[in-house]
Amino acid sequence: MQQLSSGEIVKRYRSFFVARNHLALPGSSLVVPGNSTSFIIAGMQPLLPYLRGEVAPLAPRLTALQRCLRTDDVEQVGTSIRQNTAFFMLGNWSIGNYDKRTTIQMALDLLLNHLGLPLEKLWMTVFEGDRELGLSLDDVAAEEWRRLGVPSEHVVPLGAEDNFWTMGGGPGPCGPCSEIFVDRGSELGCGAPDCRPGCSCARFLEVWNLVFMEFEKHEDGSLTSLPQRNIDTGMGLERMACVLQSSDSVYSVDLFQPALERLQALAPRDDGSPQALRARRMIVDHVRAVLLAGLAGVGPGRDGRSSVVRRLIRRAACQGRLLGIDQPFLGSLLQPLVEGHGSLLTQDEQKRVPDLERLVTNDEVMFARVLSSGLRELERVEPNERGIIAGEYLFKLHAEKGFPADLASEILQERGLVVDWSGYQHASADHRIVSRVSVQKHFH
Ligand code: GLY
Repeated sequence: MQQLSSGEIVKRYRSFFVARNHLALPGSSLVVPGNSTSFIIAGMQPLLPYLRGEVAPLAPRLTALQRCLRTDDVEQVGTSIRQNTAFFMLGNWSIGNYDKRTTIQMALDLLLNHLGLPLEKLWMTVFEGDRELGLSLDDVAAEEWRRLGVPSEHVVPLGAEDNFWTMGGGPGPCGPCSEIFVDRGSELGCGAPDCRPGCSCARFLEVWNLVFMEFEKHEDGSLTSLPQRNIDTGMGLERMACVLQSSDSVYSVDLFQPALERLQALAPRDDGSPQALRARRMIVDHVRAVLLAGLAGVGPGRDGRSSVVRRLIRRAACQGRLLGIDQPFLGSLLQPLVEGHGSLLTQDEQKRVPDLERLVTNDEVMFARVLSSGLRELERVEPNERGIIAGEYLFKLHAEKGFPADLASEILQERGLVVDWSGYQHASADHRIVSRVSVQKHFH
């Protein structure tokens, strides 16, 4: 298999679809005012008005490289080999223009003949149908993959959980999908006899999702047909790069290499433990998310989107301590990330990075004091005889010292300790009552 840089993958994807009459869009900002999510979470989201038939697109065939950021799987970052907080999504879309078979034909052509993937390494999933949704097996997709030469045993039907795509699980345009997986080799697998796409081990990596977007999902879960049958695809750039660079994970592809080297220089000792590996991965992942959010105008802060960025900075800072780095360092990873991303960031964006570096460093310095005293506290805390930490203790740590409870819980989890969250809720509710009373006293 040939080795391709991330920039080259983007170039080949884009020129493949432009040559097939797709209009190349620049990709939207990570933040779209009025959007239902804090950040763009899927490549199709900026195209919602077109997919819903509310606005006519400039062309019925579109392609783009879209930045996305989502934190719902943030706990898996660094442990799983495939989960980025922020990521680049390549996509091609048809607004009522081409069908499922054409989508599948183009996808296989790109993978085999332009990205150089061998057919025998590819596995496809198709929607097996769902009684509750009133939908049957997608035999058109299955039949088309087989007709194009994919062996039958590499075409795997899966249920709605895997193969009915919805936007973050919520309302919006949706539909059955067919996911493309690359077999990275049995030596990376769990060894289970039924290990195949859908298994959580590291062997099969999903690289591209083809969504046959025909429905709108409503708040009550019901489906209605969209005015036209659309195609919505999403290829995770970091995942494709992982395959085409033979990397062990999405965190070690070319985009992250200069930042990993800088981190190595800052923390040269490596005990080879899973915790240290996870820490390095989390740091580069989170700082890259902070970089992309910052370039979209969202710096660290207390509320809304800004609080997401602050939280990422704090999680990454904690991991730095774990690697023995005891001075602020996150800001210094931004330039190496810029270097790794090359032309994926515009010249104008690159010029704004020094300002962002100051912002990130200031936030890290502010957190350093809270972190030092909080971590000392956490080292001393003792669980009860069942290995449980009192929720009230964590609440106090948060209320009095500003140490985030979920962060504390993660650190305790690494020691095998569990938090009594109902105790935490009680303490928090009591605190709210006391605060209300004292506020009333103050103002009346
Ligand atoms: N909209 C396709 C995907 O995000 O997988």
